Amino acid sequence: MRLEDRQLLAAIEGLNVEHQSGISLSEYTSLGIGGTTDLLLIRKHESIPGLLQLLDDRKIPHKFLGGGSNLLVGDGELPWIVVQLARPEPDVVLEGNSAHVDAADDLGRTVTDCAKHDLGGMEGLIGVPGTIGGALRMNAGAYGMQIGSYVREVKLFSAATRTIEILRGDQISFEYRHTSFPPDDMMLAVTLELPSKSYQEIIQGIRICNEKRRASQPLGQKSAGCVFKNPPGASAGRMIDELGLKGFSVGDARVSDRHANFFVNAGKASAKDMLSLIADVRDRVERAYGVKLENEVVVWHA
Ligand code: EPU
Repeated sequence: MRLEDRQLLAAIEGLNVEHQSGISLSEYTSLGIGGTTDLLLIRKHESIPGLLQLLDDRKIPHKFLGGGSNLLVGDGELPWIVVQLARPEPDVVLEGNSAHVDAADDLGRTVTDCAKHDLGGMEGLIGVPGTIGGALRMNAGAYGMQIGSYVREVKLFSAATRTIEILRGDQISFEYRHTSFPPDDMMLAVTLELPSKSYQEIIQGIRICNEKRRASQPLGQKSAGCVFKNPPGASAGRMIDELGLKGFSVGDARVSDRHANFFVNAGKASAKDMLSLIADVRDRVERAYGVKLENEVVVWHA
């Protein structure tokens, strides 16, 4: 979708929001899949209510893009634009055991920045790609920890009230790869409350998690992490593996040889290929185990 109305573009510029025309979302997603549209890059949280009012008044469909690491975007010209927060400087502001972090910050970098100041707890998240905002929205977790456990406060743009709000950690429910944030709310910043640990101890924990991840996940390949959530008490990866589906492909969309819940773009996979691989694997698992796997990957259809 292209924004061409000059009056609108002038108003967007007036809000200090950058308009980028005709970007390919394949360059903004870790899967390397996605069609073309316009992007609006927000530099100041204060511009958001005005910007969204402009888009709503003109009925322009839009989606909030984070780090694109858990996202499968449709092919071709997309019928909506994307809105993204620019990465701020400085990254993390520390105050005692609190870390104030912008939603656009990189998750892994936040973990190491906090480690340098003897704040730990999030070692398991070190290899999880994406932004703090994306991690918050889906309550990212690995190796026995989840980000929700450390959230003291979240600043967000509420789609319902059209205002910037602050929620306390105890007003939010964080479950396995799920949170109570309404889908159209936009994460803006978070305050994490982290336990004190020595830098050495944190780095040791990070090293162990990195090794485990390297040994079991296809890190160098284009993927969106795990495609399916684990059903209660089971592992989607193990079930897909047991069905002999490692290497199974549709076009260039392929079940990883290393971890069967990672589907990789092994060349020039389209969204159509990836969606059909996901549907096929889901059907096979359901037929064999009677379990309907739920997507962890978020799909934005064209
Ligand atoms: N397994 C297989 N074959 C496979 C993959 C796994 O037999 O192809 C077996 C493993 O040997 C192990 C069990 O299944 O016995 C569980 O595997 P793993 O430890 O890799 O954990 P997982 O349940 O597949 C979850 C998260 C990962 C997270 C790891 C480590 C989900 C959907 N996945 O994977 O998160 O990194 O634990 O904590 O919850 C993600 O969410 O994108 C993600 C990568």
